[in-house]
Amino acid sequence: MTVGLSENIRGARLTGASSKKISVLGLGYVGLPVSAAFASRGFDVVGVDVQPSIVDVINSGRIHIVEPDLDMLVQAAVSGGKLRATLEAEPADAFIIAVPTPFKEDNVPDLSYVQQAAEMIAPLLKQGDLVVLESTSPVGTTEQICAWIGERRPDLVLPEPMKEKADIHVAHCPERVLPGSVLRELVDNDRIIGGISPACAEAAADLYQTFVKGELHLTNARTAELAKLVENAFRDVNIAFANELSMVCERLNINVWELIDLANKHPRVNILKPGPGVGGHCIAVDPWFIVAAAKDLTKVIRAAREVNDSKPRAVVEKIKAAAARLRQPVIACLGLSYKADIDDLRESPALHIVEDLARQKVGELLVVEPNMRNLPRSLSDLPHVKAAELQPALAAADIIVLLVDHRQFKRVDRELLNLKIIVDTRGIWR
Ligand SMILES: NC(=O)c1ccc[n+]([C@@H]2O[C@H](COP(=O)([O-])OP(=O)(O)OC[C@H]3O[C@@H](n4cnc5c(N)ncnc54)[C@H](O)[C@@H]3O)[C@@H](O)[C@H]2O)c1
Repeated sequence: MTVGLSENIRGARLTGASSKKISVLGLGYVGLPVSAAFASRGFDVVGVDVQPSIVDVINSGRIHIVEPDLDMLVQAAVSGGKLRATLEAEPADAFIIAVPTPFKEDNVPDLSYVQQAAEMIAPLLKQGDLVVLESTSPVGTTEQICAWIGERRPDLVLPEPMKEKADIHVAHCPERVLPGSVLRELVDNDRIIGGISPACAEAAADLYQTFVKGELHLTNARTAELAKLVENAFRDVNIAFANELSMVCERLNINVWELIDLANKHPRVNILKPGPGVGGHCIAVDPWFIVAAAKDLTKVIRAAREVNDSKPRAVVEKIKAAAARLRQPVIACLGLSYKADIDDLRESPALHIVEDLARQKVGELLVVEPNMRNLPRSLSDLPHVKAAELQPALAAADIIVLLVDHRQFKRVDRELLNLKIIVDTRGIWR
């Protein structure tokens, strides 16, 4: 399996492979696989991260994140002298920015990491260099990077949409990888490449075509920025429709899963599956970047965010109603991560639901999360919350709440669910 994926990267088009040096800023879920992909194509890659522990782990040939097969690729790149990590940026021919782009409390984008990265590389830039923003970013961020660089480097001729010649190229190439399949998707996915000018887009495409097998679609930077945000907002709106239906069905005493199956028999209807809410650092975050840019025009996108954010509360209310009928109920909560078969808790609705139940002291909670060794700190010190194995939790529980469709839960013997109150937010036991 590992060999196949590495070969997948090695087997991509070779035209741009060279002795060029690439600097990747941010060595997380995106930046580290991207670094390893370029290193496997023969580039000298220097990864930069602000966290010394990450730099140390990578320089020892290991990785700090969970992603299938990435350990082998990084190990080979480091031991082959093609990848090393540092705390400070150094001169290179191309700089790829893959730092976080979270939002602040009021749902406004936080570009401080991108600014820090742009300011770190500004003094190092020389004629012919390429700067690519991979981070998911609000419209105008790539132009803003040019402005931040220009403030520190008035000597450089920076690219502009209609200007033919500039000293450097600047482009946006948003990342679309799916956690768990990153190495395959890095190579196979189509990519959108938006340049500040057409020459910038072409320069970035020259670099990416060295390992991307999917098609490269060239456009301007602003369109590329919005395209990435729109992809995630599209998913969010469609999931919100399914979640809203699930709450309507709850009130009308209709089985939402049967309803959706039947409606989807229509040749042009394809309703997604409802769940306990929407989590992760992309779909639950990126739509707000569109709302922040055009508050008065984004009623649907905002409403979708609000519907999806309200779903965990609806699940908690349903569990509370069931618990209120019992004396000292034991509640098994199955899953904490934001999606199946991973350990990522970022913005996880399952975690929010369990935290809310714990805060409100709704029963004794037995939490089963097969992908984590320990409960997160927000739950671990609470006396009425315990980590549990699946089978004992099922046996002890009065109420079983299915929050994540992990493969272990799909295999549960349905006999064990008899005589229990079931709250199946993913519809896997219907
Ligand atoms: N993870 C995904 O599946 C995914 C998919 C598509 C897009 N994205 C986007 O890619 C970007 C990065 O996401 P991620 O999941 O890799 O984040 P991450 O938190 O895993 O990694 C970001 C890394 O950047 C480092 N960093 C912060 N500031 C820095 C700086 N100034 N210089 C150098 N390093 C710095 C952090 O220490 C961290 O290690 C985000 O915009 C995210 O929305 C992520």
